[in-house]
Amino acid sequence: MTHRRPLRLVVLISGPGTNLQALIHAQHAGELDAEIQAVFSDHIDAQGLERARRADIDARYINPADYDDGAAFDAALAQEILVYDPDLVVLAGFMRILSPSFVETFAGRMLNIHPSLLPRFKGLDTHRRVLQAGERFHGATVHFVTKDMDGGPSVIQYRIQVRTKDTATSLKDRVSQGEHIVLPRAVAWFAEQRLSVNDGAVMLDGRQLMQPVLVEGEV
Ligand code: GAR
Repeated sequence: MTHRRPLRLVVLISGPGTNLQALIHAQHAGELDAEIQAVFSDHIDAQGLERARRADIDARYINPADYDDGAAFDAALAQEILVYDPDLVVLAGFMRILSPSFVETFAGRMLNIHPSLLPRFKGLDTHRRVLQAGERFHGATVHFVTKDMDGGPSVIQYRIQVRTKDTATSLKDRVSQGEHIVLPRAVAWFAEQRLSVNDGAVMLDGRQLMQPVLVEGEV
């Protein structure tokens, strides 16, 4: 019997990197059969780069100002990522809109985590917008990345009830805790070859997911 090699993972971040940390924890805890080959950031001072260094992972900063436009930056980034021969690229708080050609390069092998119950509240500032809209529920979604920003097929969602006392900050904290559950879980499924996407259809354990797997947070 041949043994599958650990998943080769590349993670893209722009900021604190708490989701990256959750992936590192899951790997160290034996819950994720993956090796994070490299972490890339478009911000030199992203705390996630330091987390990567501490875990002995290549921490790479690419300066967007060195490129004429977003497409040129993305092309250079894609080349650098491909050097690591990744099975999966994870956008863990990478705050850039990716060019179609970048998305095409990693089609079917790129996951993103977004802080809302997609398709509701695409884009930025989701916690404040959810409060303003008086929503009962909020959460986070892990989805495959397509050219449609925050619109690719969803895999798993973490859902909480919005409390009357919630602020944008408390919502961010509560959602963040759930992100650290659902992102490693989706990546582990991919590593175990239980998860894939085909023509927009998400397959989990040989069946098409008609809706994302739902993980309920505490109420
Ligand atoms: C996470 O909440 C993630 O969902 C969000 O950025 C945060 C990164 O936190 N991503 C997006 O908003 C992408 N549209 P982290 O750096 O601590 O992992």
